[in-house]
Amino acid sequence: MLRRREAELAHVGRLGMLGEAVAEIAHEINQPLFSIHNFSQACLSELAKPAGGNQAEIVGWLERIRTASSRASQILRRITGFVRSGERSVIDCSVNDLLTDTLELISWRISRQRIDVDVRPAPPGLRFQVDRTQIQQVLMNLLLNACDAIEQSQPLGAGRIAIEANDTDGVIQFVVEDNGPGVPDDVRDRLFEPFVSTKQDGMGMGLAICRSIVERHGGKIAVVKDAGNGARFTVTIPKRPGQQAA
Ligand SMILES: Nc1ncnc2c1ncn2[C@@H]1O[C@H](COP(=O)(O)OP(=O)(O)O)[C@@H](O)[C@H]1O
Ligand SMILES: [Mg+2]
Repeated sequence: MLRRREAELAHVGRLGMLGEAVAEIAHEINQPLFSIHNFSQACLSELAKPAGGNQAEIVGWLERIRTASSRASQILRRITGFVRSGERSVIDCSVNDLLTDTLELISWRISRQRIDVDVRPAPPGLRFQVDRTQIQQVLMNLLLNACDAIEQSQPLGAGRIAIEANDTDGVIQFVVEDNGPGVPDDVRDRLFEPFVSTKQDGMGMGLAICRSIVERHGGKIAVVKDAGNGARFTVTIPKRPGQQAA
């Protein structure tokens, strides 16, 4: 029962995150659709010519249509994969692929704020067994919080985020760091509780959902004290379910 509620909560959280991105996603999908429209128009006009038009040209345009439609369905696949139901499903997956896909999901925000992202990937071939969508959601929450922090405090183009993945003693560790103002002292101890937010329109659910997902995986999430400038969050996840993170 509790498990089910948590899965539902995580699901709602993901929908919320995408809600923010809907305009961007629509724009992204609209580009290939626009190409498809134009190239098919061109094919039709060419075919209407007396001798059936220039075949080589038509073939070229049809190929452009094919590429554009794969692009559109690729974007949709990425999103539907992320939105998928609240059911929990543990699969074996690559740490670095997960990292890349997550960054891709928030690329609209990174480019809007012109943030410099320093990705320090895990050793190649590193894998773990997790609910991929949920771990993506954890990293996405941390990254979006970093973007919010940067937006509040840095001029456009001056934001920096470092994201790192490591293998430490059989446990996967992620570190997300930003050059925002850092975590406010008065909420530091309550960050992972639901409805704690210092943002005007903040729900305060992001980190609470992160903690519930991470703990469900036998892992830990923490904010590093005295991280210097900005904030630094760490997430540790055992490589296999049932293991406990130290
Ligand atoms: N990277 C960060 N830098 C500074 N403060 C942060 C950062 N991440 C989280 N916080 C603080 O933790 C609070 C809770 O975050 P979260 O649970 O994601 O809710 P929300 O983003 O809706 O406020 C934020 O309102 C903010 O005060
Ligand atoms: Mg948040």
